[in-house]
Amino acid sequence: MKPAYEFRSDNCGRAAPELIEALAAANTGTDLGYGGDALTASLQVRLAEVFETPVRVFPVPTGTAANALALAASATPFGAVYCAPEAHINTSEGNATGFFGSGTKLVTLAGTHGKVGPGGLEGAIAAAGVGLAHRSQPAAVNLVQATDLGAVYSIDEIAALGDVAHAHGLKVHMDGARFANALVRLGCTPAQGSWRAGVDVLSLGVTKNGGLLADAIVVFAPETASSIGFHLRRAGTVWSKMRFASAQILAYVKDDLWLRLARQANDAAARLAEQIRPLAGVTLIAPVEANELFVDMPPAMIAALQSEGFLFQRRGPRLARFVCRWDTSDDEIAALSGCMGRLAAKEAA
Ligand SMILES: Cc1ncc(COP(=O)(O)O)c(C=O)c1O
Repeated sequence: MKPAYEFRSDNCGRAAPELIEALAAANTGTDLGYGGDALTASLQVRLAEVFETPVRVFPVPTGTAANALALAASATPFGAVYCAPEAHINTSEGNATGFFGSGTKLVTLAGTHGKVGPGGLEGAIAAAGVGLAHRSQPAAVNLVQATDLGAVYSIDEIAALGDVAHAHGLKVHMDGARFANALVRLGCTPAQGSWRAGVDVLSLGVTKNGGLLADAIVVFAPETASSIGFHLRRAGTVWSKMRFASAQILAYVKDDLWLRLARQANDAAARLAEQIRPLAGVTLIAPVEANELFVDMPPAMIAALQSEGFLFQRRGPRLARFVCRWDTSDDEIAALSGCMGRLAAKEAA
């Protein structure tokens, strides 16, 4: 059997040993359920330190729950949430935003590399029919950091969107499934990459970056925090043994583990990008700024890579997505780039 080289998703990897150890350490004695425990209390304090501001943190089982329930608390049932066409809430969450928002509508705004732009948002709000009961009312904007094409919003880009959104009374939701990867790329603090740039509520990804079974909603806007517990509870997403979810997230941020893991994944993606960028017939369709590569190449090359045992997502006849994990090895990178090099040379001959 040929070896399998894993580039399908950062979901396919292992959990970081530190999180497993934290789970074992939390498995002692008794404590209250549903977030009334000491570890969940510590998590509130710890993330307030990490983000340098008071926050409310709600551990949740999945990124989809984080997104849909953060947005349910940010928008009305007759509200519109603006997002990029590629946004995970639009392509991959089974209408969860509309379902948990009791009718909230997604409105897509085309932009560059999976981003929403401030001009597009301004135009959409102007054309929305604010105050008309026949129309969806602008309620929130969703930005995915890093984007669903692997690019990273700069702090200025987030702030420009935040300014437009707040001028019109919209909330700013960041889908930070790869927030740590973006922080490492930007070289900024968690505060600079979120609320200081205008983010009201963050879906904080943990699972993809060495996590196990928990992501979190981090709320910066106190008025959003007051209703979110109800949305979570009615959606059945409040862990009863919450302390085990909180233990994972505490371990995730301890001693900057989250940034270390994200740096490893980003560095692996950068190395891969560097090695395949010069190949004939191979085009990276978006900047590689986090841990994902979106690559246009001849269909025959995609098929050959698959039959050589490389695991990745085919996103179209010529489009493939490769994702690097925190533990992607040098051997995996060398094997993929080497094979692509040989196939590209064969195609060009
Ligand atoms: C950008 C983004 N947001 C959210 C999610 C949601 O994650 P989950 O599958 O845990 O619901 C994903 C998962 O692939 C993602 O890539």
